[in-house]
Amino acid sequence: MPLDTLLSLELTEKQFDEISAMVKSLCGINLHDGKKELVKARLTKRLRKLSIGSFAEYMDFVRNDAGGAELTNMLDALSTNLTSFFRENEHFEYLANHILPRIVNRSEQTGRRLRVWSAGCSSGEEPYSIAVTINEKVPSLRSWDAKILATDISTRVLARAAEGVYNDSRVKTVPPQARAKYFDCIETRPERLYRVAGSIRSLVHFARLNLMNRWPMQGPFDVIFCRNVMIYFDKDTQGKLINRFYDLLAPGGTLFIGHSESLAGVNHKFNYTQPTIYQRP
Ligand SMILES: C[S@@+](CC[C@H](N)C(=O)[O-])C[C@H]1O[C@@H](n2cnc3c(N)ncnc32)[C@H](O)[C@@H]1O
Repeated sequence: MPLDTLLSLELTEKQFDEISAMVKSLCGINLHDGKKELVKARLTKRLRKLSIGSFAEYMDFVRNDAGGAELTNMLDALSTNLTSFFRENEHFEYLANHILPRIVNRSEQTGRRLRVWSAGCSSGEEPYSIAVTINEKVPSLRSWDAKILATDISTRVLARAAEGVYNDSRVKTVPPQARAKYFDCIETRPERLYRVAGSIRSLVHFARLNLMNRWPMQGPFDVIFCRNVMIYFDKDTQGKLINRFYDLLAPGGTLFIGHSESLAGVNHKFNYTQPTIYQRP
């Protein structure tokens, strides 16, 4: 397809509205008017890859793709996956200093079981940070039934997450001691690449899950991280999601949300612990 055709691709208001409605109903993400240029830029790459010459043709392709593969690609292209190791580090400190000691203490009575869910895990930095924290704080971890479920809607980021390979700039936010202990340097040229150690990877199970759909897991979870995901959802969708998290947490379980998110205006039964940290009574 000639470059000038691609440059002149037009995304009409009607097509943008249709894409927004589709994305909203499928995955809860709110693409308000200000996002039109972003949607156009990101989907133009898909059109280019598929050699499709107009958004009208692309929308037909998505609608008629019975297996839903292109829908997945479209959602992949439109979701924002920004993340980092130990992002919003107070959450990992809270996990290390408050939650894990409590769970370890009560394990004499309740058994050595630990379940954490990283909902909207992106490329894996969040669940691996959780796994490192658990490894550091739970004595005799091998004798525990400990699992971290890490889910995302995007198959693209999940593939990267499962690989567990990160470059120098990604691992910069891992504390040096933990980096030395849990990251193996597997390549030095053309750039330094690190692989998350097997002891950490084996704690994490990755799966594709659209938070808007039915959840196959039973729980209960001791901790749920759903950070910087709901920011794209409207209040009504957020409210429903928060209450579903509540139902899946064990009594005393903790929910972490992102630092720019809040449960203000959401009807819920959680106890407020501190900003962005909530506990099921
Ligand atoms: C900005 S990233 C946040 C990653 C990580 N939780 C953090 O805070 O660093 C948001 C992630 O949510 C995922 N996401 C968005 N809508 C989703 C949905 N309906 N179901 C599951 N994951 C979704 C995106 O694919 C993306 O990887």
